Order: sequence, then C-alpha cells, then structure tokens
Amino acid sequence: MNLRAYPIKVRLRDGSQVQVRAMDAKDGPAVLEFFRALPEEDRMFLRDDVTRPEWLDRFVRQIDYQTMLPLVAEDDKGIVGNAVLHRPLYGWSVHVGEMRVAVARAYQHKGLGTALAHELVKLALDLGLEKMIVSVVDNQIAAKRAFQKLGFHPEAVLKGHVKDIHGIKRDLVIMSNDVSHIWESMIALMRDYSPSLE
Ligand SMILES: CC(C)(COP(=O)(O)OP(=O)(O)OC[C@H]1O[C@@H](n2cnc3c(N)ncnc32)[C@H](O)[C@@H]1OP(=O)(O)O)[C@@H](O)C(=O)NCCC(=O)NCCS
Repeated sequence: MNLRAYPIKVRLRDGSQVQVRAMDAKDGPAVLEFFRALPEEDRMFLRDDVTRPEWLDRFVRQIDYQTMLPLVAEDDKGIVGNAVLHRPLYGWSVHVGEMRVAVARAYQHKGLGTALAHELVKLALDLGLEKMIVSVVDNQIAAKRAFQKLGFHPEAVLKGHVKDIHGIKRDLVIMSNDVSHIWESMIALMRDYSPSLE
C-alpha cells in the first residue's frame, strides 16, 4: 500500500491542526487510551469492545498494511482519531473495501471524520478497490449522516444483528458506495468548506 505520503497535516474547520499517519504496533497503548476515552454512546455501537487489552492485542496483530490499514490522527496530546481500511486479498469480494472511523468527542463535527474517510478512499483508489462499505447501527445518527454526505446509501439491513453493550438488539445497516462516486462527493465537500490537507 502506498504510505509514502504520510504523515500529513490536516487543518480542521475550526482552524486546529492534526497530523494523520499510518498506525503501527507501537501506537497500541495510545490507541487503547483513545478508545477508552470515547463516551459510552460512541463506543456503544462499535463492533468490538475496544476498551479491552485483548481486543488491542488482536487489532495490533492484524496490522499488515495489505489487508488491514489503520490510520491515526493526533494532536500534541495524543490520538484523536482512528480510521481503518479492511480489504480481502482473496475471494469473490477482492474489489470491496470496508472502512471504520472513530473521532474523539472534542474533535467531532470539525471535519476530521470526513478527512480520515478521504484518506481511506485515496488508499482504496490506489489499491484498485471499486466499492466501499461501512456498517452502521440503525440509530447511529451522526455516523449515518457523515457517510450519507459522502454518498453512501443503505444497501442492506440486517434485523436485530447487533446487541449493544446493554444487550439491546439493533438493526445493522450496511451502507455502500462506488469508490469513484465517493471521490466525486469528497471533491464537492472539499469545495464547500472543508478540512485542508497540507
Ligand atoms: C461518525 C464520526 C466518525 C463522524 O466524525 P466527525 O469528525 O464528527 O465527522 P465530520 O465532522 O466530518 O462530519 C461529517 C458529517 O457528519 C454529520 N455529523 C457529525 N457529527 C454529528 C452529530 N453529532 N450529529 C449529527 N450529525 C453529525 C454531519 O452531517 C457532518 O457534516 P457537517 O458538519 O457538514 O454538518 C463520529 O461521530 C464518531 O466517531 N462516532 C462514533 C464512532 C462511530 O459511530 N463510527 C462509525 C462506525 S464505522
């Protein structure tokens, strides 16, 4: 995967600046701290219990920059965002990538989620992926809006597929988009306001 461009600086809508770079195993403890600091309502619908050291061990072991590429965003105090691109190397869905994005509360709604998604889409284009999916629990309003703005649309709903951390069943919405269409939406969003990449 082409990681030569990193690290990059990203200026957000409020004028603050963060650095975005590829995550490596050394970032493990800081990433765990980042996820542990997310409020429960943001962690509630993430696929894994990201507060557990066992989760972190598994996550770090999976990093290979071929099938699983994680990016981190950081300010001078630590990690404030995490975004992961998963892509299979074999099988009938080698053209499909999956992304996950999480942003610290203090940095939400400033364009960081969009900027991280932008980076993952650039990597996906580089890899020749044609389609991206993102899995969102039905009542994750911010996440649904964020991905809708990038042109993702709900493609499938898996009823009662998710049990949140309180054991309540929720529907899982698989949202998808063609990589080239996401790219076009991103260029339009960049024109609107947008976090600038420096
Ligand atoms: C989803 C998430 C990554 C968005 O990150 P972000 O940095 O706030 O995203 P952006 O600032 O780029 O916002 C993009 C759009 O999302 C929507 N959005 C963001 N936060 C929102 C909120 N609190 N309420 C409603 N809509 C919201 C808006 O439409 C926004 O565009 P606008 O600011 O131009 O109106 C963030 O909310 C998050 O980390 N949530 C918890 C983890 C999660 O649910 N991840 C998704 C599963 S992969």
